[in-house]
Amino acid sequence: MVVRHRCFLGSVEDPEVSYTSVNRDLGEPPSRGFVRVDAPQPAPPRRLPLPTVGPRDVLVRVHAAALHRGDAFTMAGRPLMLRFALGLRRPGLGVPGRDLAGSVVAVGSRVEDLAPGDDVFGWTAKGSLAEYVAAPADHFVRRPAGASMAEAAGLATSGLTALQACRDVARIRPGQRVLVVGASGGFGHLAIQIAKALRAHVTAVCSAANLDFVRSLGADRAIDYAAEDVTDGDHVYDVILANVETSSLAAMRRILGPDGTLVPNDGTGGGPLLGPLPRIVATRLRDLFTRQRLRPFLSLEKHADLVALAELVETGRLMPVVGRTFALDDAAAALRQVATGHTRAKVVVAVAEA
Ligand SMILES: NC(=O)c1ccc[n+]([C@@H]2O[C@H](COP(=O)([O-])OP(=O)(O)OC[C@H]3O[C@@H](n4cnc5c(N)ncnc54)[C@H](OP(=O)(O)O)[C@@H]3O)[C@@H](O)[C@H]2O)c1
Repeated sequence: MVVRHRCFLGSVEDPEVSYTSVNRDLGEPPSRGFVRVDAPQPAPPRRLPLPTVGPRDVLVRVHAAALHRGDAFTMAGRPLMLRFALGLRRPGLGVPGRDLAGSVVAVGSRVEDLAPGDDVFGWTAKGSLAEYVAAPADHFVRRPAGASMAEAAGLATSGLTALQACRDVARIRPGQRVLVVGASGGFGHLAIQIAKALRAHVTAVCSAANLDFVRSLGADRAIDYAAEDVTDGDHVYDVILANVETSSLAAMRRILGPDGTLVPNDGTGGGPLLGPLPRIVATRLRDLFTRQRLRPFLSLEKHADLVALAELVETGRLMPVVGRTFALDDAAAALRQVATGHTRAKVVVAVAEA
């Protein structure tokens, strides 16, 4: 039984969550179906036609899809305000997932930069947990040399957010002291590397289990949040990237230099209807009355920044790390993992053999 709407009404914590299954038979159109995880006998996958390729689109055979916390929010339809964008009773997107890497198999008549056979990474608004994806060609760039499909899949959303936070919002300069709170996750592990590429001194906050991991990425100092409250220390930072906002704004501002920049980047918490929105608005308002720069932001999917990320990888300054890999049939477990808020680096779903 197809229960497409359930993926929206359920939450990733409960068994109502749906997942995608794909018919791998290349001789037939890919099939995608939503099946209840707890169903005693999973419903057969529903067959859907290949996505249509518009004149500016490419058709990509997906090798790996990477998930991030936003995918879990979308699946759960929470906070509830998201439903104004996704559909009030069921999500407008059927298939979850956004980021992917794969091979171009067809291009639209007006696509010039990519050709069949090119390996690419990028994003789609129509769900990356599928065997094929059709999306505008400018959502993709060529997979950088040295990055596997799984690694490249993890670049788009987390990489764009990390790049824009470090370079455009915080404007990190050489020698600056940068604090990354939530440093071992999808965003944080890339932000450490980008801040190091910008020649900052980086302090990383995560759990004890990940201290060596963040050091291996280049962090100069690593702090276990269970052993030390970073806002209690004497250290003052020029830039704070706060992926986890467990401390009050006042406490964070105490350890921020007088001209420093705080980038609150935590999309979780808050009430069931508006989620973090009131916190974001309050921070923006506070920004108007202080020299410190308090800058929550929304990342943008700029093609030029995908190119910049590929360049950072090719020049050895950045490499997404694959923390865990799931099979496509286990996509529900992958979504549950990203919803925990304790993910090491990127969670990747292997869709096809590279
Ligand atoms: N601004 C934007 O446009 C944008 C775009 C994408 C995502 N985001 C937001 O970015 C945030 C981070 O996303 P993500 O994908 O990096 O999440 P993630 O992969 O789940 O990583 C979470 C990180 O937080 C750490 N952490 C958990 N509890 C902590 C605590 N009490 N103190 C300090 N660190 C703690 C975890 O470390 P341990 O595992 O070691 O506990 C892990 O390193 C999310 O809230 C998301 O909504 C914003």
